[in-house]
Amino acid sequence: MKDRLFDEKRGSLGKDFINNLHILFKTATIHDLKNVALNSTVDKAIEFISLLLNSEDSFSVKMIQEHLFIDDVKIKVSIENFLASMFLIEEMKKRGIGSITFSTHLSPDELKRFIYAFINTNLKSSGPFDELINKLESLAITRITIDRIKEDAEHFDHVLEDSREMAKRIYFKTLSAASEIMESAKLKNTASIKKAKRLVQSMVDLMLHEESTLLGLTTLKAYDEYTYNHSVNVSILSIAMGQRLGYHRRELGELGMATLFHDIGKIDLPLELLNKPSEFTPEEWQVMRTHPINGVKTLLRLKGLQEQAIRMIMASFEHHLTYDLSGYPKLATPRRISLFGRITTIADCYDALTSARIYNRTPFIPDKALSFMMKKSNTAFDPILLKIFINVVGIYPVGTLLLLNTRELGVVTKANQIPVNIHRPRIKLITDSQGNEIDGEVIDLSENHYKSIIQSLDHRKYGIDISKYFL
Ligand SMILES: [Fe+2]
Ligand SMILES: [Fe+2]
Repeated sequence: MKDRLFDEKRGSLGKDFINNLHILFKTATIHDLKNVALNSTVDKAIEFISLLLNSEDSFSVKMIQEHLFIDDVKIKVSIENFLASMFLIEEMKKRGIGSITFSTHLSPDELKRFIYAFINTNLKSSGPFDELINKLESLAITRITIDRIKEDAEHFDHVLEDSREMAKRIYFKTLSAASEIMESAKLKNTASIKKAKRLVQSMVDLMLHEESTLLGLTTLKAYDEYTYNHSVNVSILSIAMGQRLGYHRRELGELGMATLFHDIGKIDLPLELLNKPSEFTPEEWQVMRTHPINGVKTLLRLKGLQEQAIRMIMASFEHHLTYDLSGYPKLATPRRISLFGRITTIADCYDALTSARIYNRTPFIPDKALSFMMKKSNTAFDPILLKIFINVVGIYPVGTLLLLNTRELGVVTKANQIPVNIHRPRIKLITDSQGNEIDGEVIDLSENHYKSIIQSLDHRKYGIDISKYFL
């Protein structure tokens, strides 16, 4: 137990250190060696290094099969450090580096010199690794050393693991592409949507083999004022629905894009409003309700929209109209909402209900959100589409915390697609019957008849971070 706690502490320190290195490399590409802008990040890095040394002589940041380790402790990927980890892995790969070792008595100055040598490696040379080694030697850098990637460590033979990793990567890349586009739309720049389009198409392709991994990632409900996370989740949930509806690859891509930007109209809303911790006043609601139309205007300014423009515009315009048109904006003449619009409404509402939005009371746990939505079938939601949605996510959606008859706790990892077994999903056990946290096995409740579900629980009350089981 002590070891595990120690590992966890080291893991989280490692995470912070990787983030810090990311900032350091990025800052160094903008400013030169003498610039003071670098100093505080360098000092911070030295602090992390001394904590990680923990009175040993050295420690290493290793890259093994696309994962980062601090010595033997794997750095878990989370939403806060994904981009930083990805950056470091890519940059190490480009230089053929398998590990970087930091030794005691490293001075801020030596660290700085290392950073500049690292970023200025000529990647086009025949051997960037050798070039960097020589450079470190000529700069008398001895307290940071590098080792080559070991060929066998690079070898991947686990296809399944691969596509799962790929799903995570695509999720976070889509997240950052969506935020880039929205941020630049906010500044009234013309952002190109090409990158986002490519990423959404990859999500569509992955959905065939990795649907439950992608659905699992929608349990990430990080709060950010412009709801980027929410946008990616809604996109994934919608693509999964579109697949059940028999959409083709290209149509699924269009649906994914339309839903990814359904809330783009929020970028012009004042932050104080989006961050308001209490209920909105009627006047504030009025402002909030402008986002679907504002979204239409913003979308018209984006570059490279072409033929899918209309469907994206519809998703933004229609997603709060509701099935019976009792939502907003108010229409002068009633009209039928497009299929894209009706799909977006369902995926949007589900993700919003299960997220801790700042103006949203306590969020619903997944299965309770579904029963709440079922009550509005035929009024707020298209009843047939809602049934399809429940078929996609299951009665107990991926990420639901369950209490079993054995008093063990489990997290749903996959919904059961067979209708008679829809109550018996696949779960991962996360505690034993005494309540001790375990890295338990994954069991299919439709095959294991000794275990059954007593009830779903609110993971927040138990202080359990559900998304960690999907990262
Ligand atoms: Fe919205
Ligand atoms: Fe939304």
